[in-house]
Amino acid sequence: MENSTIKEQKSSGLIGWIDARFPFSSFITHHLKEYYAPKNLNFWYVFGAISLLVLVNQIVTGIWLAMYYTPTAKGAFASIEFIMRDVHFGWLIRYMHAVGASAFFVVVYLHMYRALMYGSYKRPRELLWLFGMVIYCIMLGEAFTGYVLPWGQMSYWASQVITSLFGAIPYIGHDITIFLRGDFNVSGVTLHRCFSLHVILFPLIFLALVAFHLVGLHKVGSNNPDGIEIRKDVDEKGVPKDGIPFHPYFTLKDLYWSVIFLIVFAAIIFFNPNFWGYFIEGANSVPANPIVTPAHIAPIWYMTPYYAILRAIPNKLGGAIFMAASIAFLFVLPWLDRSKVKSIRYKGKWSKWMLAIFVISFIGLGWLGLLPVDVWRLWLARLFTVGYFAFFVLMPFYTRWENTKPEPARVKFKKK
Ligand code: HEM
Repeated sequence: MENSTIKEQKSSGLIGWIDARFPFSSFITHHLKEYYAPKNLNFWYVFGAISLLVLVNQIVTGIWLAMYYTPTAKGAFASIEFIMRDVHFGWLIRYMHAVGASAFFVVVYLHMYRALMYGSYKRPRELLWLFGMVIYCIMLGEAFTGYVLPWGQMSYWASQVITSLFGAIPYIGHDITIFLRGDFNVSGVTLHRCFSLHVILFPLIFLALVAFHLVGLHKVGSNNPDGIEIRKDVDEKGVPKDGIPFHPYFTLKDLYWSVIFLIVFAAIIFFNPNFWGYFIEGANSVPANPIVTPAHIAPIWYMTPYYAILRAIPNKLGGAIFMAASIAFLFVLPWLDRSKVKSIRYKGKWSKWMLAIFVISFIGLGWLGLLPVDVWRLWLARLFTVGYFAFFVLMPFYTRWENTKPEPARVKFKKK
């Protein structure tokens, strides 16, 4: 029996054969060649594509690591040493994965900062932002469970600290901690759970959410540094007047910056993969020992802002609540910002100052979270915690009351 759509094929050869059975060419046309992105997208817009590149790196190197890794308390540490010393290029695969984790957070933090600058979380991109936020939370879970896998001293003690945090919840906290650990203490069972979450559950959710993120993006289109909606001003063919085809213009721009990213990435992997202990901590090259607590326990750099908030609050439950709130506020950001304009270019002085205070506080907390506490650092962490939360709590007021500049009718774009 002949299918009518099979006769309608336009391309010939293999592509034509596929097109008659699967919407391959129409997908490329709709999402690349005839997908119009604002012509003024700047350097800050390359980090989405680079995040995708790092995601692929994590999956490919992760699959290879899993071929040699043993998820047991007895075998885990030795299997990592085996990968580093005996497996052909095992050291390269492991460093690509471990440095890739830090690179992922660098890139995603810059990607999120861009959204804060240009108000990309505002209507109509609220859901896109929410998908991004869930991706970020899964990333934190993925990074934490991955950190446990080498079963070194930091793996063991970090999982001890994190799981014991849940113990602060009144009445049910103790049971939740035991449930998470799968044992009365952090043990091989906890390690096995982390392995299962790290290689199956989190990556599955992650990939689905990245797909939703991109589908959502193409539904509403990219925002831009001027924060104006280019789809509102179209020519007679329905093409946005300030839009240019994603392919070849932005595919090439993303490719160019991806190559530069890869050069820096390779330089770190080959010359300084531990990155002075920030990417791979020295204490984690000592096997896990439940009876020896390391002198100083700190999470890896991308989690230290939250850790510093936790330590800044003098009560364990209060600390855990503030830590959860510091992420929860990001989720509701689209509804806190009441400004008439999206981009920081046209917002008032208050928005500019508050964004600066937020960034300084986040970096300051991150730095303090890496260091042991003393009385000065504790008060500084409290000051930064206030700065961090002020950005969100005061946002409905300063964004509504401050004077904004008028947005231009068309995007600003200089031909080079
Ligand atoms: C694996 C992680 C992620 C990947 C692969 C990814 C991918 C992308 C890509 C390819 C774009 C379009 C290009 C660009 O605007 O840079 C984009 C846009 C966007 N992403 Fe992500 N993203 C990730 C994580 C996040 C996170 C954690 C957030 C925020 C919480 C986020 C929020 C956004 C927003 C708001 C936009 C639209 C920006 C605009 O149009 O101005 N993304 N993302």
